[in-house]
Amino acid sequence: MLHVLGLSFGKKNANCDILCKEALYGAREAFPDAEIKFINTQRLKIDRCIGCGACSQGLEHGKDNKCIVKDDFQMVENWIRWADSIILAAPVYALQPVGQFKNLVDRYSCRHDTSAINWVLDKRRSGEMPGNPDDFPLERLRVKSVSYISVGGASTEDWTSMGTCSLHIFGFPTMMNVVSNYNANSMGTIGNPYLKDELIEHMHEIGKRTAQAYGKDKSEIEYYNPKDGDGICPVCHQRLLTIERTGTNVTCPICGTHGTLSIEDGQIKVNWPASEFERARGTFKGLREHTTEIQGFGAICGPKIMANKAMLDEKMESRIRKFDEAAGALTNTEADIPWNV
Ligand SMILES: Cc1cc2nc3c(=O)[nH]c(=O)nc-3n(C[C@H](O)[C@H](O)[C@H](O)COP(=O)(O)O)c2cc1C
Repeated sequence: MLHVLGLSFGKKNANCDILCKEALYGAREAFPDAEIKFINTQRLKIDRCIGCGACSQGLEHGKDNKCIVKDDFQMVENWIRWADSIILAAPVYALQPVGQFKNLVDRYSCRHDTSAINWVLDKRRSGEMPGNPDDFPLERLRVKSVSYISVGGASTEDWTSMGTCSLHIFGFPTMMNVVSNYNANSMGTIGNPYLKDELIEHMHEIGKRTAQAYGKDKSEIEYYNPKDGDGICPVCHQRLLTIERTGTNVTCPICGTHGTLSIEDGQIKVNWPASEFERARGTFKGLREHTTEIQGFGAICGPKIMANKAMLDEKMESRIRKFDEAAGALTNTEADIPWNV
């Protein structure tokens, strides 16, 4: 039975909830027997990743890669693991999705990186790392389908400029198949999604298609964005580009794919070599490039740090641990800030 999860990061019963729930109705229309779960995260406590490394160290020591920060995250994570298809709606706060969404990405998405986990499981198989490779529940890494809805108040698109692209980051580490990434902006003038029938119709279609996409190969899934079209990057369908310092080379900041710019008939074109799609960030090859880079850090930094240990120890002690003294910095605690700022 298909499991469909709606995750809303907006206020209770406000725009994100409405759009997400309407997409879930669409999923229900396509799959009357589906199990559907909706979670509004606004009142949940999802703290930031503290970068302690306990999760990856746990995995490398033969255990599960649990997050040791205990709050409502574990509940949300379990529902994400349960889901086959996900509809995720988040409000834009200051050009990007609300901070709680990023906290979830840092704690969920990075820990479910398909390449990183398989790298460790391969080492377990070869005996280079402790632990039974079969202990890890591989169903956690099954390819889910996902659609994103970015909700913003502004009618000017540049006030939601990093909404949809940032939402994309949730699913690429587990190589989720993205069905839609919809910029539901203009809420400040629309007033309520129910006052715009087209918006509700789009949500139903998103929900339906996202549910139908589960279990399909990426090549069989047609990207759906009736409002903004297919975008510029053929992989993530976003319209952001990093322009290299010289020449005509560009990079998609979401996918890490490289292309070249040209102008044809007054129109900007990007030529993306097919080889670049195969190494986009959300593919196994693209993720593996990053795993390999990270795994190489120790061999590069270790000798440098050891060779300069005495100097680094001295600087850390005199300049960093004793910073307040060395820099003549204020040592007031928050309780005794000298004037009312
Ligand atoms: C702190 C804050 C910052 C916001 N920044 C933006 C923004 O940069 N661009 C925008 O289009 N809307 C912005 N909004 C408006 C929200 O995206 C909009 O009200 C949205 O509907 C909120 O989602 P909700 O109705 O599901 O709670 C901001 C709202 C808040 C509270």
